[in-house]
Amino acid sequence: MPEKLRVGVIGLGLIGSLHARILAEAPHAQLVAVTDISSKTAKEFGDRYSCNYYTDFKKMCDEEALDAVCICTPDEFHMENAIHAAQKGFHLLIEKPLARTEAEARMIVQAADSAGVRLMVAQLLHFDPRYVKVKEAIHEGRIGDIIHMFFKRTNPRTNGRRLGGKVSIFHFIGVHDIDMMCCYAQSKPTRAYCRRVSKINADIGCEDTIMAIVDFESGAVGTVELCWALPENSALGINTYAEVVGVDGAGYVNIMDQGVSLITKDQVIYADILNWPEYNGRILGDLKEELHHFISATQNNQPYLVDTENAITAVKVIEACFQSIETGLPVAIL
Ligand SMILES: NC(=O)c1ccc[n+]([C@@H]2O[C@H](COP(=O)([O-])OP(=O)(O)OC[C@H]3O[C@@H](n4cnc5c(N)ncnc54)[C@H](O)[C@@H]3O)[C@@H](O)[C@H]2O)c1
Repeated sequence: MPEKLRVGVIGLGLIGSLHARILAEAPHAQLVAVTDISSKTAKEFGDRYSCNYYTDFKKMCDEEALDAVCICTPDEFHMENAIHAAQKGFHLLIEKPLARTEAEARMIVQAADSAGVRLMVAQLLHFDPRYVKVKEAIHEGRIGDIIHMFFKRTNPRTNGRRLGGKVSIFHFIGVHDIDMMCCYAQSKPTRAYCRRVSKINADIGCEDTIMAIVDFESGAVGTVELCWALPENSALGINTYAEVVGVDGAGYVNIMDQGVSLITKDQVIYADILNWPEYNGRILGDLKEELHHFISATQNNQPYLVDTENAITAVKVIEACFQSIETGLPVAIL
């Protein structure tokens, strides 16, 4: 493997633009090429980072000598992008959710395995020190057998409206919490019951709030509350909470303001200090940690910190939640 991991980014929207910037600034990576179906966006990033640019990801994969690709397209393209890139021999960093269904996720894994390439799902919370501290305490046995878990994530309505009802709150924000809940549980989820409320997002056929209860084989139970209905001018960009109670202890993550608030003429802002904050002219935070981990673990053939099977389990839980919303009944997770 060359000294610098040669990477291409597919999809240059909210998250792909950050991937591109972090890779362009990373000392051990080279942003070789980018793709976006918008020719204007593709050119803008190509010019900004002096790299090649494409509007067709297959052309990029065919023409460029890459070691890896970051797949940052909307969920419905992950499978097509991943299978093609894997067949070209490129390692894969795929934005969450890995796919919309377990069946799609398994096809991606199979393509990666048959091509002999490695795959990491970009589950950001595994690079968030707050969630990782609790994960480590659980996995070291300091919390004991899990009794219950509670995960909550409340966002302004901006993202749901921006995505126009094309993506469920589960796949956009909830998969973070469900993946981490399954990781904390260290046990197979067996059943999900889910309720949905849609008032302000009813016009785009999308939920405002979701509440799910998930049973685990170990006897533990987990609750997930997701909402993206707060007014647009809400100061709370990231408002999340996690609680895990075990027979020997408990762990808590509580994120509202992150220790800094800004009051300006128009707005009060609780600034993001951890996910992808920019200060002193640089991007820092969890996303940078995640990408740097991917670069270094790929170059050195070390294990990735994100468990792909756990990420697939999260997708399965979400599928059961959708079924439960339809039927109004608890749904077994097989
Ligand atoms: N880790 C996180 O915290 C996080 C945050 C946001 C989004 N995401 C994930 O990243 C993915 C993208 O989300 P987003 O919010 O950045 O979306 P977005 O709509 O902001 O951007 C998607 C980009 O992909 C481009 N695109 C669409 N189809 C394409 C194709 N076939 N080939 C090439 N380019 C294509 C679009 O033109 C757009 O620029 C989703 O899977 C989402 O769940 C993760």
